[in-house]
Amino acid sequence: MIGTDVVKAASLLIAGKLVAIPTETVYGLAANALNHEAVSQLYTVKNRPQFNPLILHCASIEEAKKYTRKWPKNAELLAQTFWPGSISFLLPKSSLVPDLITAGSQNVVIRIPNHPLTLDLLAKLDFPLAAPSANISNTVSPTSALHVDSTIGHQIGYVLDGGTCFVGVESTIVSFENDQIAILREGGVTQEQIMEMGLDVIEIKQHTIQTPGQLKKHYATKKPLLIVDNLEQWINENPHKKPIALLYEEKNLKIANVLLSKSYVLSEIAASLFAGMRKADQTDGDVIIIEKIQQKGIGRAIADRLNRAAAR
Ligand code: TXA
Ligand code: MG
Repeated sequence: MIGTDVVKAASLLIAGKLVAIPTETVYGLAANALNHEAVSQLYTVKNRPQFNPLILHCASIEEAKKYTRKWPKNAELLAQTFWPGSISFLLPKSSLVPDLITAGSQNVVIRIPNHPLTLDLLAKLDFPLAAPSANISNTVSPTSALHVDSTIGHQIGYVLDGGTCFVGVESTIVSFENDQIAILREGGVTQEQIMEMGLDVIEIKQHTIQTPGQLKKHYATKKPLLIVDNLEQWINENPHKKPIALLYEEKNLKIANVLLSKSYVLSEIAASLFAGMRKADQTDGDVIIIEKIQQKGIGRAIADRLNRAAAR
């Protein structure tokens, strides 16, 4: 069932049920993080291996501190600047965090999401919410209540409808290495935004990544997705194919396409990316084609999702 009833969502979560929640990044599939059965159920519905840990969503910085064992100066700075918002911290967990949440790791990933309905919901609960993206593992993340309802709606208590997610890609995940900020997953808060604060940023390369969920193939569309250098050229060189193009700006290509932004605005492309991938999947055609994205700002997170979707 879909609706906007926060009180209903809260009582279902208190009763140990699963509820899909809106965030500014993507919809999450939420459970009471302290309820073992509810969290186990969450792994089952998502078809997620239990070695892939879950993000803890908190109502306040005070609460986040309760569930972590260390709170570096830079965590405080980032939290004050971006929370509620699209950045998550990997930090040593406190003993209050169940092992099932962290897949046995001594570290937990934690954030305060920025969506009025979900903030209202969190304020009504006396426990944090474990919430991975509300999709089946390895499929495209949901950015609307309908995306969730049409895939896993029948398996969960409620979909709290908060409209379309306005950031559209998942949160940035960082850890704190001495005085540096290590980016483990590119996301809604950009490197540039962190560097503007005068902080030192390092990118953790794929092979050394500490987040087990960073599987190479992820966010996969059903049709193969190809990242090409130039759409026109690819179309000319592959006359026998029936492609559908994801476009960053208006173009007259004479093939099926989904427009992600009218004029290459990166934030618009991010916000419409996953819905665009779903739409392309439902269209007639045998391959989804898209050009490489500009490697700046949120373009980096977009590139990351596209590379994973393209990996076969
Ligand atoms: O924007 C977001 O972060 C969304 C919304 C719903 O908040 N959530 C989200 O969750 O993207 P999920 O589960 O789809 O991705 C979380 C990532 C996974 O790659 C997981 O492996 C990693 O974070 N992760 C979570 N807890 C971790 C931990 N304790 N140690 C290492 N990696 C962790
Ligand atoms: Mg996910």
